[in-house]
Amino acid sequence: MQTIKIQPVERGLQGSIPIPGDKSISHRSIMLGALAEGKTVITNFLNSEDCLCTAKAFQNMGIEIAGLGTDIVVVSGNGLHGLKEPSGILDMGNSGTSTRLMSGILSGQSFYSVMSGDQSLCRRPMSRIIKPLTGMGGRLYARGNNQYLPMTIVGSPLKGIDYQSPVASAQVKSCLMLAGLYADGVTRITEPALSRDHTERMLTYLGVSFHRDGLTLSIQGTQTLQGKPIRVPGDISSAAFFMAAGVIVKGSEIILENVGLNPTRTGILDAIRSMGGQFEIINEIGKDWEPSGNIRIQFSQLKAAEFGGTLIPRIIDEVPILAVLATQAEGITVIKDAQELKVKETNRIDAVVNELSKMGAQIEGRDDGLVIEGPTLLKGARVQSYGDHRMAMSLAIAGLIAKGETLIEDTECIHTSFPNFMDLLQGLKG
Ligand code: S3P
Repeated sequence: MQTIKIQPVERGLQGSIPIPGDKSISHRSIMLGALAEGKTVITNFLNSEDCLCTAKAFQNMGIEIAGLGTDIVVVSGNGLHGLKEPSGILDMGNSGTSTRLMSGILSGQSFYSVMSGDQSLCRRPMSRIIKPLTGMGGRLYARGNNQYLPMTIVGSPLKGIDYQSPVASAQVKSCLMLAGLYADGVTRITEPALSRDHTERMLTYLGVSFHRDGLTLSIQGTQTLQGKPIRVPGDISSAAFFMAAGVIVKGSEIILENVGLNPTRTGILDAIRSMGGQFEIINEIGKDWEPSGNIRIQFSQLKAAEFGGTLIPRIIDEVPILAVLATQAEGITVIKDAQELKVKETNRIDAVVNELSKMGAQIEGRDDGLVIEGPTLLKGARVQSYGDHRMAMSLAIAGLIAKGETLIEDTECIHTSFPNFMDLLQGLKG
């Protein structure tokens, strides 16, 4: 088990760093590239463990993917019906996105497949996709009374469905849109609040049409995707750790290059702004595809704020690092409507409360979120990640401002989303 040691930073963080490719977009570029006709050349692909699970799964289904491990990955698509039955179990590692989105695709095939993953993934709820997919005619069989991986999918003919999702989840929405491509008739999905829209943007770009009416999406089956070059912007969820570091480490001024600025993902910028964090966006590009830009951010005095409602799906992966920010903000920060945190890579409400408490934070868990009183002088402690990459990185950033050394246990998980996190952090320390 790997342990990371973090020492408090004496002088501020300085410098400019490139943010690695977006995880959500990298997954989708492999999946949709595989279902497209012709080649999809992906630049700034994220070579993290999660995205490599997606790529290997498609290789196991006969898709040629070149350049893995480099910045430019080329997927040779075989069209909507060009996948082959995998000869073994598809290993989804730690990746909920790979599992849920691929379930939609696999349900519509004419072959048998089995997916499994690591301990954390095998505890995450799959019923949220199994139920609607079954309603479309899918044949999915999972452990624990049809809830958990391992899961078997016996491909079958699908029909459109009109589904009201109880959760604002891009994984559920995307799973059903992908299944909808294989379905007879129209598949309609309504979500309670807008979740990240990368699937919609990429499908449009590759030539698929669908209709959006408020929170309802309708997609007609049997459409052709056309392979095209895909530029992956940097992952704002990865950038968020360094935004937080820039804001809370005294004397810092850093530039984060090429950060994805899709409005369905920028909740962390809204949150930092409402807490009084100082930043500016420079050189914004790509408004017609997935916008991105450079973010210059500096140390700022923070004040507490309340977060909830439609902001939550736009900041869902950033709540652990938001909690770290809140420990440095004057007043009581409340994060609510975030029950989904309980079913991420770990129960992030419990994990954040347990570990930040060890560092001296004034923090309480609620059924739907967190209450944090600040500012607190954090102290170094031995803390654990629960095998959750975002916990590990949030604790590393907290360690930068703690008094004394912070030891974070079980940090291999950082590789699932941000393999060069520690190198970039070291670079900013100078
Ligand atoms: C993701 C959607 C979110 C997010 C996850 C990636 C995606 O999950 O937490 O890290 O790529 O679609 P939910 O859709 O379950 O909220």
